[in-house]
Amino acid sequence: MTQYKVPVLPGDGIGPEIIAEGRKVIDAAGERFGFDVEWIEYPHGADHYLETGELISEETLKELSGYPAIYLGSIGDPRIAPGVLEKGILLTARFYFDQYINLRPIKLLEGVWTPIKDKTSKDIDFVVVRENTEDFYIGIGGRAKKGDSEEIGYQIGLISKEGTKRVIEYAFDLAENRKKHVSSVDKANVLSDIYGFWREEFNAVAEKHPGFTTDFNFVDAITMWFVKNPEWFDVVVTPNMFGDIITDLGAMIQGGLGLAPGGNINPKGTSMFEPIHGSAPKYKGQNKVNPIATIWAGAMLIEQLGEKEASDTIVNAIQKNILDGKVKTYDMGGKNTTSDVGDDITRIIKGE
Ligand code: IPM
Ligand code: MN
Repeated sequence: MTQYKVPVLPGDGIGPEIIAEGRKVIDAAGERFGFDVEWIEYPHGADHYLETGELISEETLKELSGYPAIYLGSIGDPRIAPGVLEKGILLTARFYFDQYINLRPIKLLEGVWTPIKDKTSKDIDFVVVRENTEDFYIGIGGRAKKGDSEEIGYQIGLISKEGTKRVIEYAFDLAENRKKHVSSVDKANVLSDIYGFWREEFNAVAEKHPGFTTDFNFVDAITMWFVKNPEWFDVVVTPNMFGDIITDLGAMIQGGLGLAPGGNINPKGTSMFEPIHGSAPKYKGQNKVNPIATIWAGAMLIEQLGEKEASDTIVNAIQKNILDGKVKTYDMGGKNTTSDVGDDITRIIKGE
């Protein structure tokens, strides 16, 4: 039996509840496919911060860097100012592990309601590859003349040649086994220094990939096309901040945040898998929210570990749970609990 050790950070709000279901499902897949996961729990998040003053230490990060994949619930708590935990834990981890790819599948499963009229699961099936370590997320900015009527604030975004090239190359590699169509997102018409550079690098990578089709999209326009013609897209590669914005839109067209998983990936290092939604503090402890995004992120995690068949089986089990339509949380029009959905998906995996 293959043994894996996976650090798990359940985090804040609904994090512990959804992570419990994700673990349950992965454990069931392990039983069926002959692997065992030892979960190593880490307490980082709001409570830990309030108790100890620590966000996440260099020592912990170093320890975590010994593992190929981390499972993360959600970070964020109303007792703490916005940004403290998000930057101090989530972004710190993304940067520390150089997780330069944020992989976000936008796939409408069959039987899921989409707000886009006349589109089906055949039309909404693409992947967003969001650059995850540069752009306006690097944390360079400042405020001046505080309190003055002339007060200013500024934030600098930057991209590097290497940082841009590697994420675009990843997008082309991903498209190789799909429809070989790669769409680039930028705002080169206005922010031409930063995103004109992005476009040049995209072109340079595209030139090395004959047989692929490509297109350029301004970020404002792509929000329109995601809604009007989602079937145009296969692999979408985007700078960090635009990727943040367009993947919330993507989550909605695939049925809502309860169904949207993501992976922060460093192909040769430590990756981290999480639902793209937040910690939803108002639902904390109610066993109410949809665990599917987290379970799906778990499927991405075990794929990263090399368990492709088990990963596909989890996604298929999610699909079956939805098509059966009997066990579902409130967001999908049901009355079941978080753990009911985890149990049902587990049952399907076990073939019961
Ligand atoms: C996301 C989130 C994060 C981001 C926040 C919480 C820092 O919105 O994962 O999309 O902006 O990347
Ligand atoms: Mn976001």
